[in-house]
Amino acid sequence: MAKILLTGATGYIGSHTWLALLAAGFDVVGVDDFSNSSPEVLNRLRELSAQAPVFVRADVNDAAAMDAVFAEHRVAAVVHFAAFKAVGESTAEPLKYYANNLGGLIGTCAAMRRHGVKALVFSSSATVYGEPQFLPYTEAHPLAAMNVYGRTKLMGEQILRDLEAADSSWNFAWLRYFNPVGAHESGRIGEDPRGIPNNLMPYVQQVAVGRREFLSVFGGDYDTPDGTGVRDYLHVMDLAEGHVAAVRYLLEAQRSVTVNLGTGVGVSVLELLKAFEAACGHALPYRIVDRRAGDLPSYYADASLARKLLGWQARRGLQQMCDDSWRWQQANPDGYGASAEVQA
Ligand code: NAD
Ligand code: WQD
Repeated sequence: MAKILLTGATGYIGSHTWLALLAAGFDVVGVDDFSNSSPEVLNRLRELSAQAPVFVRADVNDAAAMDAVFAEHRVAAVVHFAAFKAVGESTAEPLKYYANNLGGLIGTCAAMRRHGVKALVFSSSATVYGEPQFLPYTEAHPLAAMNVYGRTKLMGEQILRDLEAADSSWNFAWLRYFNPVGAHESGRIGEDPRGIPNNLMPYVQQVAVGRREFLSVFGGDYDTPDGTGVRDYLHVMDLAEGHVAAVRYLLEAQRSVTVNLGTGVGVSVLELLKAFEAACGHALPYRIVDRRAGDLPSYYADASLARKLLGWQARRGLQQMCDDSWRWQQANPDGYGASAEVQA
């Protein structure tokens, strides 16, 4: 079976995609520098897959290390997750974000080219659509990022389009994720942000286990059904399976593809909170506070193109997203912890 290289492999989406690729019969080699993930993920992957994860600790900007990976492994396609993703930090530290998100992408593609590998899945984001001109966002919606992080994704997409225009033997899957949440149903891997979570679901999870006192709901006066922000949350295992479908498409159809990966369903902050209360079995304290600067009131995907082209659609609903997040958080109240021994 084809071997797939995952960069950013021990991160939140990478670790779930790793399992989904193994379950689909692919071989996987993972690369990560642990700048935003824990080595303990490798122990969990070993346990869940009953095999030793093939892993190289490296920064994708390290050309010699990437050359060694490609020399040792016959890679058919790359899924490039490695990037920094904190929107607020990206505004404060733009050079850090451009260097890693664009430098890392260029370095990965350059290494691929040196080794004759020309199929890459790129982790893009719904953030590339900017202010909605219409909803749901289709892939044809105009592109306009609203912050530095979003611009790294928009420019990353453009770099790859330029590369394809210069050399048509490259094939890319530009996957525009909506809001990934949830965890593997085993509760053994999940999202483990460092410090105070920026995103809604991990914050709610930490309120549920008592690590945070209450949720601040950013804005209660949006023009949405209950006044709180609306997003298209999708289960991380559905997203992982979307990557399997994209890899198959690249290897079989040998064509490029740009698709949204979302459910097509908008969910408000308070709806998500209620579903999480049902999952954990107790009320969760919250306070409505000011809007967060830069937030859009509402957006969600037109998810029909991924269904048509990749044969993929999200299968897991909001309650399962919350149930699985809760299982992970309850079993791992401090995430992967700081003192994990790597056995892989
Ligand atoms: P994550 O931070 O959990 O995973 C990213 C991984 O990349 C981390 O393990 C980190 O250590 C690693 N990494 C970063 N820079 C690296 C480098 N130079 N060399 C090697 N490894 C490096 O984030 P995630 O949520 O799993 O996101 C994965 C990808 O999906 C990112 O590109 C992100 O921008 C994109 N994305 C995420 C979301 C989301 O909401 N989580 C939404 C849209 C797009
Ligand atoms: C969701 C909703 C908040 C936290 C971000 C990035 C995007 C992509 C996904 C990576 C909004 C509200 C949140 C809290 C709240 N990332 N909220 N209290 O902002 O839609 O998207 O992550 O690629 O680029 O911008 O996700 O989870 O932060 O917020 O009320 O403590 O929850 O206002 O309505 P967002 P989020």
